Amino acid sequence: MEHKINKNLSTIQISGIRQFFNMISDYDDVVSLTIGQPDFPTPAHVKAAAVKAIENNHTTYTHNAGIFELRKAISEHVSQKYDLEYDPANEIIVTVGASQAIDITLRTIIEQGDEVLLPGPVYPGYEPLAKLAGAKVTHIDTSANHFKLTADLLEQSITKDTKCVILPYPSNPTGVSLTNGELEAIAEVIDRHGIFMIADEIYSELVYEQSHTSIASFSKVRDQVIVVNGVSKSHSMTGFRIGYLLAPEWLTKHILKVHQYNVSCATSVSQYAALEAIQNGKLDPESMKEDYKKRREYVTRRLDKMELEYVIPDGAFYIFPKFPLNGKTTFEAAVDLVKTAGVALVPGDAFSNYGEGYMRLSYAYSEKILKIGLDRLEKYLQQTN
Ligand SMILES: Cc1ncc(COP(=O)(O)O)c(C=O)c1O
Repeated sequence: MEHKINKNLSTIQISGIRQFFNMISDYDDVVSLTIGQPDFPTPAHVKAAAVKAIENNHTTYTHNAGIFELRKAISEHVSQKYDLEYDPANEIIVTVGASQAIDITLRTIIEQGDEVLLPGPVYPGYEPLAKLAGAKVTHIDTSANHFKLTADLLEQSITKDTKCVILPYPSNPTGVSLTNGELEAIAEVIDRHGIFMIADEIYSELVYEQSHTSIASFSKVRDQVIVVNGVSKSHSMTGFRIGYLLAPEWLTKHILKVHQYNVSCATSVSQYAALEAIQNGKLDPESMKEDYKKRREYVTRRLDKMELEYVIPDGAFYIFPKFPLNGKTTFEAAVDLVKTAGVALVPGDAFSNYGEGYMRLSYAYSEKILKIGLDRLEKYLQQTN
């Protein structure tokens, strides 16, 4: 019967990250610098709000788009912080993590044979969802350009089949973000070609020096941009599974149909926790960001000393150094690093072919763990080069 399942699945592999973890799971004493989630506990006031929601019997289905108070809080937050105006009544959907926002958006806009463009290297969560929706996926090589998608690169990649481009910034796996001017130039291209953009801004609260611009704030593209965000990274709430999307009313009403038949609504208790996070936890991401920033300084100092090349991350908690392969594939080099030195980094090819020759290092770890991991990495490089 296997040949009878959805053919779109035949082109989807289990993620490179999972394959890597399966490969290294038998090794003991490994310091892992691989994780893609904050290492801080969820703020206490947010946890208390979740408990209170249960006690108050907020344990039923909610409005399909999410409780109105939360949509209103999101609307106010993005207005104050990112100059975005979205009507909580009909332009915001609360989703099961940013992941579901991306999925239901793709399933709303993609038809069989459409093309979805992704910058490469890129978060591996998009390609399978685009393919499941029937799209063909093309990665745009950003490696020669400090891992930044530019208006020119995008322009050269658009074909008659292109329906959508997905742009995460700050980026997983590189931490690189885009400036206001760079985004404006990209907005001009998507406007001229009439394509959609899914702007994945899940790390927007974790930008270090520059201020984060949402591409949807350029009014000419508001109608074709779907902004994806959430509380997973900003408030260390990955397990609560709350994200949201912002889109024009005419599009939201269609995405809402997919969402409704998919999950009915996001988890009620988590929605109340997210409400507390967004309304009263504005400073939570700030304090975590200060720590990530210190760790970034520490990690870059250490990588400099090892003479590994990297692009300084503007945000998130990843860095993507070039790694000497010594004749190995990137995957083999990452496995060898685990076996020989007891330190795990995610092999860059998990983020498309354009990540070959790089490793993703996450600094969502205490300085103590970072130090042990980086000491081991340094020793490995000294011994193998
Ligand atoms: C760029 C990016 N988008 C989306 C997600 C998924 O977020 P969520 O856990 O809210 O579904 C991640 C998680 O690592 C991510 O790195």
